[in-house]
Amino acid sequence: MTLLNLVNVSVRYGRLTAVRDVSIDLKEGQILFITGPNGAGKSSLLRAIAGVTPTAGGHIEFDGAEITGRAPEDIARLGFSMVPEGREVFGSLTIEENLLVGAGMHSRTAGAKGRTASDLASVYDTFPILKERRHQQAGLLSGGQQQMLVIGRALMTRPRLIAIDEPSLGLAPNITDQVYERLVALQSERKLTLLIVEQSSARAVMVGGRMILMRSGGVVLDGDARTLGNSEAVQAAYFGYEEQ
Ligand SMILES: Nc1ncnc2c1ncn2[C@@H]1O[C@H](COP(=O)(O)OP(=O)(O)OP(=O)(O)O)[C@@H](O)[C@H]1O
Ligand SMILES: [Mg+2]
Repeated sequence: MTLLNLVNVSVRYGRLTAVRDVSIDLKEGQILFITGPNGAGKSSLLRAIAGVTPTAGGHIEFDGAEITGRAPEDIARLGFSMVPEGREVFGSLTIEENLLVGAGMHSRTAGAKGRTASDLASVYDTFPILKERRHQQAGLLSGGQQQMLVIGRALMTRPRLIAIDEPSLGLAPNITDQVYERLVALQSERKLTLLIVEQSSARAVMVGGRMILMRSGGVVLDGDARTLGNSEAVQAAYFGYEEQ
C-alpha cells in the first residue's frame, strides 16, 4: 500500500528552484534513504512534505489524503512525524518532559493519559538510556542520546511514518550504528515507514532498503540501496561527471 505519494513536487525560494518535479511513491513499511550532495534539495523536500515549507508545484498525498498546502500540525495528526536537522531538544526540561511535549497534541483527556503512559513506556523500551536518565536535563545528554530523544519524541505522536533529516550528523560511527539499529528495529517490529535523509550513500548501503539520490533539486537515481551503492552512477552523481 502506498503511504506517501509525491507527484512532480517542486520547491522554490524566490528565483532559486531547490526541488524540481520530484515524484516518489513510498510503500507502507518501506525504508527509504534520500541521499545526495550539499544543496541537492533533500531538506527542502522533507520540509515540503511536512508542510513547513510551501510547495511551488505538484501534489503530495499521505495515506490517500491530499496534504499539499495543509498545516504541519494537520499533517502530523495524520501520522507523519518529522525530525528536523539539528536535534533540537528543550535543554532545560527533563528528558521525560521533552517526550511529553511530543505527546502534547492528544494528552488532555483521561483516556489519553493512559495512552501517553504506554507510549512513554514503549519509547523507554526502545531507548533504555532515556529511561535511565528520564529526570535529567535534556541539555546534558550527548549528541547520540539527543538524537535518540528527538526520535523518541517523534514516536510519542504514534506516527506511521517518521522522516529524519541527517540523524548521523556529527555523531561518531559507533553511535550512529546504535541509532540505526533502533530505527531498523522500529521499522521491522512496528511496520513503521522510514524516510531518512543522509548526505552520504554509505549508510543506506549498510542498512539496505530503497535509495533515492538527489542532485540539483532532482532525482537522479532510485533503486535498491545495495545495488545502487556499488554503481559508478552514484560516484558520478556526487562528483558531478556526466554518465557516458
Ligand atoms: N530557507 C531558504 N531560503 C533560501 N534558499 C534556501 C533555503 N533553504 C535552502 N535553500 C537553498 O536551497 C537549495 C537546497 O537546499 P537544501 O537545504 O534543501 O539542500 P540539502 O540537500 O538538504 O543540503 P545539505 O546536504 O547541505 O543539508 C540550496 O541551494 C540552498 O541554499
Ligand atoms: Mg539538508
